[in-house]
Amino acid sequence: MKVVAFNGSPRKNGNTSILIRQVLSVMEDKGIEVETVQVGGKPIRGCIACFKCMENKNGKCAVDKDMLNDCVDRMAAADGIILGSPTYFACMSPEIKALIDRSGMVSRANDMMFRRKVGAAVVAVRRAGSVHTFDSINHFFTIGEMIVPGSSYWNMGFGREKGEVNDDAEGLAVMKTLGENMAWLLEKIAG
Ligand SMILES: Cc1cc2nc3c(=O)[nH]c(=O)nc-3n(C[C@H](O)[C@H](O)[C@H](O)COP(=O)(O)O)c2cc1C
Repeated sequence: MKVVAFNGSPRKNGNTSILIRQVLSVMEDKGIEVETVQVGGKPIRGCIACFKCMENKNGKCAVDKDMLNDCVDRMAAADGIILGSPTYFACMSPEIKALIDRSGMVSRANDMMFRRKVGAAVVAVRRAGSVHTFDSINHFFTIGEMIVPGSSYWNMGFGREKGEVNDDAEGLAVMKTLGENMAWLLEKIAG
């Protein structure tokens, strides 16, 4: 079994990265293969609404000039997908939005290619807007016929400066529980 996580923060080793790591380490301990893909800070453009993916139906975005198709391939190869984002103006980072819009459209063009994979959002936030970010990312999973595990709270951790989320004991515990529930669900679906 395999889980791929996408870090949508341009700050490497920042709070989003720490939260993702917390979820992945639980699953790694249970023998699940994990990988993290850095998308934050990378040139990944938004959807241009050409709808060529709907004509081509080849599992790819027709705009093959950035890392998007590599991300789609990694999503397709995984049993679970984590989308991690910092909260930016009460929503997700633009890189995660670009990833969602384009991979989501490719999925729809190809008979819902992420159907029944397990999906989870992970959100870093200083103060407010993380519930909206969490909800927005979950729209990607639920409209794509994916299955979303819960935790003991919505999947967010609080911190502003790099590493501050390590002081949010509840946030870290939520990520640990998310990792346990995601592993449990993966075992039922793909084990
Ligand atoms: C452009 C920008 C917008 C932000 N908007 C918000 C916001 O709406 N609400 C909030 O609580 N924090 C906001 N923040 C703070 C980040 O969400 C917070 O520092 C988070 O921990 C960053 O995660 P990272 O270390 O993974 O980058 C913003 C930060 C930036 C750079």
